[in-house]
Amino acid sequence: MKVLGYRVSGARVPIYLENSSSTLFSQLRGSQKAAVIIDSKVAGAYKSLLSEIISSDGTVVATYQASEQNKSLSKAEELLTFFLSKNIKRDSVLFAIGGGITGDISGFVAAVFQRGISYVQVPTTLLAMVDSSIGGKVGVNHPLGKNMIGAFHQPSAIIMDTQFLETLPKEEILCGTGEIAKYAVLSGEPFLEFLEKNYVKVLNRDRRTLSRIVRMSVEIKKRYVERDVREAGIRAHLNLGHTVGHAIEAATGYGSFKHGECVLIGLVAESHIAMHMKILRPSTFERILEMVRRIARQRNEKVSLDEMMVHMSFDKKVKAGKVRFVLPTGIGRVVIRDDVATKSIIDAMKFVAADGMLALK
Ligand SMILES: NC(=O)c1ccc[n+]([C@@H]2O[C@H](COP(=O)([O-])OP(=O)(O)OC[C@H]3O[C@@H](n4cnc5c(N)ncnc54)[C@H](O)[C@@H]3O)[C@@H](O)[C@H]2O)c1
Ligand SMILES: [Zn+2]
Repeated sequence: MKVLGYRVSGARVPIYLENSSSTLFSQLRGSQKAAVIIDSKVAGAYKSLLSEIISSDGTVVATYQASEQNKSLSKAEELLTFFLSKNIKRDSVLFAIGGGITGDISGFVAAVFQRGISYVQVPTTLLAMVDSSIGGKVGVNHPLGKNMIGAFHQPSAIIMDTQFLETLPKEEILCGTGEIAKYAVLSGEPFLEFLEKNYVKVLNRDRRTLSRIVRMSVEIKKRYVERDVREAGIRAHLNLGHTVGHAIEAATGYGSFKHGECVLIGLVAESHIAMHMKILRPSTFERILEMVRRIARQRNEKVSLDEMMVHMSFDKKVKAGKVRFVLPTGIGRVVIRDDVATKSIIDAMKFVAADGMLALK
């Protein structure tokens, strides 16, 4: 069995690759009554594969409809009430089976249920495999901002099986590829070259390529998490593409653009800013732009630049009133800057709009 893992605060979180066998589930569940929060689409599509965990007598299953609206405190309370009423105890294990939304709210439920119970992440989207299931950031949205209520609560294990990706819609694969493109720029030449050569296979869900790229992404994310569990320093580099990306998502009401698409646009915009500030060579900017152009879809959805600017100043990444950007200075190199001129941001957004990634209003 292929097992990776990461070490935080003295504990090791094993990551089981390409294995979602019933033996593994029963081993992780132990002898206690287990709690399950499962994405409703996954529950429908993988009933027999997951039968050990969702149909067994000792399991309490909550089926969950994943959406940003449902990633809320009131939904978390509903889930907590359900598990309390079903006699889930402190030594029970909670299995979170689904994409990043299911993983985030389930991890939050696990963090606060009787002051914290163990949970196992079973990511079923590409984004959740390469990103959200690793690192223990859990939480829900608040009307005043996305992911504003949450905790750091590490899973006790992660089960990562790319067979779940067979039913994942193409736009969701694209979404995960946004985070992968971010890793490619962050990590250096080998990863970027691999993605440049294999992006078509990734988008077409070639299983071997997906397995390979999930593993490569996990290796990178785990390095950042191990060095900086609570995102006090270097883990912030993972926000590359996200200052602009989150602002686009927020300005469009988390509706028209997927998170990973926004990260792709953010990658180009932030690289443009870096080039403008003369800390990134134009040839490297062109290379990042080319990669994103191949992966991303052309969109003419309207985004308000003014609203984006307002959202940027509300972001969690703001420190001492200054908007912080993670800017690439080369392939495999970034810096954090809080002195980006508004004009650079506007120019970058005009550039991505002229390139057909979105429209400005
Ligand atoms: N905690 C973190 O560190 C972290 C990091 C990145 C993103 N996130 C969060 O992750 C969330 C996005 O996650 P996501 O993109 O996985 O979204 P998601 O959980 O909504 O899943 C996307 C869609 O795919 C469906 N789905 C899931 N698995 C499927 C499968 N195997 N087959 C068919 N359909 C399937 C879901 O029902 C949903 O409609 C955001 O809320 C974001 O804030 C968290
Ligand atoms: Zn992201």
